[in-house]
Amino acid sequence: MSFFDNFLCCSSSEDLNKAVFSSEIIAANIPIFAPMENRKLKNSELDRKSVSEFKEAKKTPIIVILDNVRSLNNIGSIFRTADAFLIQKIYLCGITATPPHKDIQKTALGATETVAWEYVENVLEVVEKLKAAGVKTFAVEQAENATMLHDFKPENDQSYALIFGNEVKGVQQKVVSASDEVLEIPQLGSKHSLNISVSAGVVLWDVFVKMSVSKSIL
Ligand SMILES: C[S@@+](CC[C@H](N)C(=O)[O-])C[C@H]1O[C@@H](n2cnc3c(N)ncnc32)[C@H](O)[C@@H]1O
Repeated sequence: MSFFDNFLCCSSSEDLNKAVFSSEIIAANIPIFAPMENRKLKNSELDRKSVSEFKEAKKTPIIVILDNVRSLNNIGSIFRTADAFLIQKIYLCGITATPPHKDIQKTALGATETVAWEYVENVLEVVEKLKAAGVKTFAVEQAENATMLHDFKPENDQSYALIFGNEVKGVQQKVVSASDEVLEIPQLGSKHSLNISVSAGVVLWDVFVKMSVSKSIL
């Protein structure tokens, strides 16, 4: 049976695989007719920054504050997202664990080496310090009079600190009250809230895009 016979008689993708990888085809050096559009990129083709290039790069003027985040996987995941969008710094507060830790590493995949971070026990101390330095502090939470994420427009040349809360208790009320504003992700389904690292992904991407587009970075 020739390659073409083999190819044409395939009735399922399993048959096609058998045909394509049969020793007959490989021995005959026949080109494989696989569609090449949307070829998936190798990691080496993604043109990512090295740790030192990341450190040198201009950062997005966003600081993340984690208020008593319990899950090490969530912390690691937020590091990885922060790396993707060149976030300036992460403050780890209260019970939030700090790197190095194998369960943070599982989801951070090395992002704890790139993104700047600092542990400060008292989250209110960080909020007050950043406010005094001119950074606008936003609790990311579901609260009365919150600004819905799609309505939020970052001001030009303004730095923002975004505060995410504990998996069960959320951002503490005293921290929400101390913040300049509250940002809420609208939800239309049955669940009360999103997982914290998912909410960080949604908010950081949204604010990053709005800032980047206004500065033509993307
Ligand atoms: C699982 S939620 C906490 C929910 C908790 N039941 C509460 O009372 O706040 C963990 C964190 O994810 C973020 N989050 C989740 N869903 C959100 C939403 N729809 N809007 C804004 N932030 C959200 C907030 O930072 C929140 O503190």
